[in-house]
Amino acid sequence: MIRSPLLEKALTGLLKTNNYSFINLKRFPLSMKLSYLATVMLIATACTSSRQETANVIPAMEQTPICESYSEYFKTGTSLNVNQTNGKDSIGAEVAKRHFNTIVAENCMKSAEIHPTENEYNWEDADNFVKFGTDNNMWIVGHCLVWHSQLSPWFCVDEKGENVSPDVLKQRLRDHIHTIVGRYKGKVHAWDVVNETVEDDGSYRKTPFYQILGEEYIPLAFQYAHEADPDAQLIINDYSMSGEKKRERYVQIVNDLKKRGLRVDAIGMQGHNGMDYPDYKEFEKSIEAFAGTGCDVMITELDFTVLPTVVHGAAVENNLEYSQKMNPYADGLTPEIDNQWNDRVAEFMKLLIKHSDKITRVNFWGVNDADSWRNDWPMRGRTDYPLAIDRSWNVKPFVEASLK
Ligand code: G3I
Repeated sequence: MIRSPLLEKALTGLLKTNNYSFINLKRFPLSMKLSYLATVMLIATACTSSRQETANVIPAMEQTPICESYSEYFKTGTSLNVNQTNGKDSIGAEVAKRHFNTIVAENCMKSAEIHPTENEYNWEDADNFVKFGTDNNMWIVGHCLVWHSQLSPWFCVDEKGENVSPDVLKQRLRDHIHTIVGRYKGKVHAWDVVNETVEDDGSYRKTPFYQILGEEYIPLAFQYAHEADPDAQLIINDYSMSGEKKRERYVQIVNDLKKRGLRVDAIGMQGHNGMDYPDYKEFEKSIEAFAGTGCDVMITELDFTVLPTVVHGAAVENNLEYSQKMNPYADGLTPEIDNQWNDRVAEFMKLLIKHSDKITRVNFWGVNDADSWRNDWPMRGRTDYPLAIDRSWNVKPFVEASLK
């Protein structure tokens, strides 16, 4: 067997580069080593170019992590869908790991998904979500314990479909919250306890919870959540929080919770924004009013639709007839619109940075534009561009612009 130290050195280096160092070269004749060298060179070239291609295909995997850009101000996160946490969307998962240090469950912990019948829980997707967060050392947020939408059909009614009694609903709420929060005690860092409990006019939303228990369902939900995990942060969350009436109501609700000695850590301003709403001055007034209660402020579901505004807010019951004029950018944004959008979002992020003494977490509602609920709301089949990372996996310019 002819030995060639130079060849062996070259091959060993190549093997190591491509994680083949376990191959023991000494057992191969020179002829085989030469053909192997050619093969490895080919693989190495392919791997290198594929790595470059990967970087070209997934630029976000080379770009500065968004959470790093904002690290001195607040935690920066995203909602995750089940495909990202069950391995089907591995690119979305890898990009989320790189760019965000906090995550929230988009759908898998909502009652209709996790607790579909009174004696049945679906844990798989929620377990996958929590495992994703613990495996990647992320700040994990559960969403949402009490919400009128995606509500399990059995939750508030009896077998005849009539509203149950207050005592029955209290017991169901307690069981639901204790079971879910208890399962993830010490793993989930915070919970959206009550979601969207107030109408834009400041009145209480007449949900089944309200119809049966009145306002009392709110403190009860916070009490049960705290009982189940005394260390978890507890959030009350809603959209269109820049409105004066809604602002005043939430200040009153949170002050009442505190007066009762209940734990409430943060007020979540969802931040489902658009090109013509919210008024940033009004949004700023809400940040200051909410912080004035002693709570942290969190921006919990941030996105900016670029599409014509049909309805403000995020009331999920809206699903209007599709019309072409409501979907003007199906083939992409014009540079002008793209710039206008980035400028508006950069200005918003500057406002959040200005109040980073009050804001502890800013969470985008989706990893990239294709993930967004906005593509199907308020009518299905729209193409929107509302998030921090675009469909070509590029981090959008507003991030850098917001730091200048
Ligand atoms: O899970 C079912 C699936 O089995 C079925 O095949 C499919 C058929 O369409 O529907 C799936 O459920 C969908 C669910 O998302 C999970 O993907 C529902 O139809 C769909 O309406 C639901 O939309 C979610 C929406 O809340 C309604 O609850 C969006 O993904 C989610 O981004 C959005 O998030 C809400 C926040 O939780 C609260 N704040 C407002 C925000 C936007 O509406």
